[in-house]
Amino acid sequence: MNCNLIAGEWVQGPSSIANVNPSDTDDVIGLYTQADAAQARLAVEAAHHAQQTWQYSPIQERFEILDRIGTELLARQEELGRLLSREEGKTLREGIAEVARAGYVFKFFGGEALRLAGELLPSTRPGLTVEITREPVGTIGIITPWNFPIAIPSWKIAPALCYGNSVVFKPAELVPGSAWALAEIISRSGLPKGVFNLVMGRGGIVGEVLISAPEVRALSFTGSAATGANIAAKAVARGAKIQLEMGGKNPLVILDDADLSTAVNVAVNGAFFSTGQRCTASSRLIVTPGIYDRFLPALTERIAALRVGNALAPQTDIGPVVDETQLRVDQRYIEIGRAEGAKLELGGKLLVLDRPGHYLEPALFTETTSKMRINQEEIFGPVASVIRVRDYDEALHVANDVAVGLSSGIITTSLKYAADFRRRSQAGMVMVNVPTAGVDYHVPFGGRKESSYGPREQGRYAAEFYSSVKTAYISP
Ligand code: UN1
Repeated sequence: MNCNLIAGEWVQGPSSIANVNPSDTDDVIGLYTQADAAQARLAVEAAHHAQQTWQYSPIQERFEILDRIGTELLARQEELGRLLSREEGKTLREGIAEVARAGYVFKFFGGEALRLAGELLPSTRPGLTVEITREPVGTIGIITPWNFPIAIPSWKIAPALCYGNSVVFKPAELVPGSAWALAEIISRSGLPKGVFNLVMGRGGIVGEVLISAPEVRALSFTGSAATGANIAAKAVARGAKIQLEMGGKNPLVILDDADLSTAVNVAVNGAFFSTGQRCTASSRLIVTPGIYDRFLPALTERIAALRVGNALAPQTDIGPVVDETQLRVDQRYIEIGRAEGAKLELGGKLLVLDRPGHYLEPALFTETTSKMRINQEEIFGPVASVIRVRDYDEALHVANDVAVGLSSGIITTSLKYAADFRRRSQAGMVMVNVPTAGVDYHVPFGGRKESSYGPREQGRYAAEFYSSVKTAYISP
């Protein structure tokens, strides 16, 4: 049984869940304990207590701890990548790359601990000096989704610790393996007991404790818009800071002057890699008429050649859907698209392979319009649409014609259109001739409109959320 980590001790909760491999549902990866509300409360109290000392910890200590965690993640990337792919279903290549990304995130924030800086300014009043510094926020509740089981926890936990906060971490129920492995590494990093706590359990139980506990001064969440709205309402009402990363419906614009092979590569990667289960996935391919008749056959040929299979098999391009519930959502949207009059150009059928798993052929809709539900609502699966538009102006309009704005992309050889799109795209991240998904670890991550709320994640911008600014006035 894999236990929760509370106040530096491994403790069992009142129940447990089985971690099931979506590539082979007969394969149970392990049993993971589930906390109840009382255990989650203990974790909050432990974190709050430990933070009283950790907030004054020397930066050399923070650097060494974060760097050590990063070093171990990098050294074990193959092993932990395999575990990640086994429990989540992204390909082994993607799983290993994700663990490496998590390692680099810890190393980056190890370095950031050494670069904590403030400002010293003259006051407007004679003789006075003003000093601006960043201090820890306190105890931070971290609630993460199943689709990046180690990278997203890392890019929240590492900055939290870097800036002197303590953490209570609640991972998604579907992927406790990666979360537990990360917690185990952190538990041996030299971090004082209680500064980091792992509480596996249900959102409605453990999540609710974190959202409402007065000691939890900030909440960082990635997941669904509905859960984000619940966190926002309750956390804001009690004055806690929030950072929410929610859905995307990311457009990829393909212009007449695009390089065809770049367009196809970027579209296939953005729409279908990681089984389309990325909030940065390109689910809307917006194409102008001059390239449409060359792009579509090249794209469908590539999609048809994608090998769907066991995430751990070396030849697999696309792994399974994460679970039965998500599979039903994907199938339901395929039905919705058909009912709306879109043409299912290819894919969308369940695949029966040698092991029982949630396998779905990548699906592509054509003859769609911007206002269809399949082009407005996040599906979070291997389902993408092509939207044919008249020209660049209509492409830009359609790209922005959704309630969310996380990532967007354009494929063009025109400097003029690339520059215009970068400026006028209503998204937090804009990609030129690269996929909308698959971001660097050292620069800000986040969206606009209903995609995100609160300060950016990652890179130096993470300081905005994970620290609190103090302005001191000093008279000699
Ligand atoms: C990426 O595209 O590299 O949940 C990261 C998600 C995002 C992370 C995407 N928060 O899909």
